[in-house]
Amino acid sequence: MDLTVDLRGKVGLVTGAGGQIGGACALALARCGADLALNDVRADALDAICAQVTALGRRALPLLGDSADHAAVQAMGRRALDEMGGVFVFMNVAGQSQPKHIVDMTEAEWDRTQAANVKSLFNWCQALLPSMLAGPGGRIVGLSSVSGKQGGDLNSVSRAAYAAAKGGVMGFVRGLAREAAPKVTVNAICPGLVINPRTQKLLEERPQMLEQYLAGRAGTGADIAKALLYFVAADWVTGEVTDVNGGYYID
Ligand SMILES: NC(=O)c1ccc[n+]([C@@H]2O[C@H](COP(=O)([O-])OP(=O)(O)OC[C@H]3O[C@@H](n4cnc5c(N)ncnc54)[C@H](O)[C@@H]3O)[C@@H](O)[C@H]2O)c1
Repeated sequence: MDLTVDLRGKVGLVTGAGGQIGGACALALARCGADLALNDVRADALDAICAQVTALGRRALPLLGDSADHAAVQAMGRRALDEMGGVFVFMNVAGQSQPKHIVDMTEAEWDRTQAANVKSLFNWCQALLPSMLAGPGGRIVGLSSVSGKQGGDLNSVSRAAYAAAKGGVMGFVRGLAREAAPKVTVNAICPGLVINPRTQKLLEERPQMLEQYLAGRAGTGADIAKALLYFVAADWVTGEVTDVNGGYYID
């Protein structure tokens, strides 16, 4: 990826960093010169991305824990601020799909879907925003989904509960943009289908899904990382939700 923003001397924090999108976002920030605090619930995946960031010559602080857990996030946030200095870029990638229909879902499954996808963003903003506002400002980027706009796909893995959570991310960034202005911009990225081990399997079973993508292909983590760098650079853009979906859904 050949986009760059000068982030030397700055710190980024990416959640879900052990996955496809989070990993690509972490590496993009590191290539721009940022040191990173990286969060995931999977220790092996977290170690792997930290090693890749370190290999680029940047510092990587692993924060192993559940982004949906408010107390755990406050503790991880304090560690990041204490050990890395102020965080300038925060990108919340942690999240999970919910394939169950509403009529089959338990209350706990509904709550977990909301907590993983949208409460995680709230948790981290509570941990990091005060220091961003007290310091030189910053950039917050949430991760929504095209499902939050068009309601998900009955043949896929994202249905109403996931659509509600990702729709919540859009409302949250629009509201927080007002509360955090003018020092901190708050935006969200709204991806279509991005290749990861789960979606790769889905595409093998249903290759016709790609027919709806004007770009003729599914997305990659790097496609999402480009939008992240745009939001990092664009200091006159806040409260915005940008589609990155290969033309799958246009509104
Ligand atoms: N892949 C897609 O097609 C697609 C499309 C739209 C939106 N998204 C969103 O993008 C994000 C990541 O997608 P991906 O394709 O990289 O998936 P992925 O499965 O490759 O990565 C997700 C990572 O997040 C971690 N994670 C999940 N819940 C967590 C939590 N509560 N705390 C900390 N870490 C947690 C997982 O361990 C994993 O490493 C999710 O929020 C997902 O909803 C994905």
